[in-house]
Amino acid sequence: MEISNPLEELSEEELRARLEGARLPTHVAVIMDGNGRWAEKRGFSRIRGHEAGVRAVREAVTACREVEIKYLTLYAFSSENWKRPKAEVQALIKLLKDYLVGERDELVEKQIRLRAIGRLEQMPADVRAELDKTVALTAQYDKMTLTHALSYGGRAELVDALRKVIAAGIREPDEEAVSRYLYAPDHPDPDLLIRTSGELRVSNFLLWEISYAEIYVTNVLWPDFSAKHMYAALLDYSMRERRFGKVSGGDGGWT
Ligand code: FPP
Repeated sequence: MEISNPLEELSEEELRARLEGARLPTHVAVIMDGNGRWAEKRGFSRIRGHEAGVRAVREAVTACREVEIKYLTLYAFSSENWKRPKAEVQALIKLLKDYLVGERDELVEKQIRLRAIGRLEQMPADVRAELDKTVALTAQYDKMTLTHALSYGGRAELVDALRKVIAAGIREPDEEAVSRYLYAPDHPDPDLLIRTSGELRVSNFLLWEISYAEIYVTNVLWPDFSAKHMYAALLDYSMRERRFGKVSGGDGGWT
């Protein structure tokens, strides 16, 4: 679907300048979509699209760190992604492992804490080992928390939370009890959800947590997503009015 985002016509510098003093989100979550289409448009294999997608991940992380976004959560591998052709799954897993090793110095230098959410036990043992290493190495940093959703599904997260609620012997759970057993209960809910490649879906991502998130959809395919697009999304967010179910100055609306 073609979406119009006039702010994306501005330059990165102009957007950065306009972000000075703007009300920024604490937590940005991103559905990174369009690697395959980016590659197909160029006659490349889908795997090359994912490789180019890693470049965009680096750029998004740097852009958010520059403007002091506190939490960035990226949908790197969904529970449904296991159903892709074996070669593509293997390539994605390898990219992830290389990323977890290759980004360590950068994360330390930028004082970014790495975390992961999802059914991590489904990831291969060697990837989990590299993940654990990077998570441990960066655990003391608090400039920004970068969370990768891996083998992640929003419904699975809720099922896992409910199982823990039952195991804890809570017979009448309330919202607070469910929240307490999510994968990252200490993270604030995302304020802004970005989706690339023009699709208007939430694709089983952070279903509980995005209840009141503002949504920004861009036509840009993930490998082409740059700092400029991140800043356009942040600026767009800063201009919205968030009511959390209330009418401005009162009660009773829907949003
Ligand atoms: C969607 O593109 C993207 C993914 C399957 C996940 C995102 C993965 C990356 C950005 C690369 C690895 C990530 C890290 C953190 C190292 P798609 O293949 O669904 O695109 P399409 O809809 O155009 O086919």
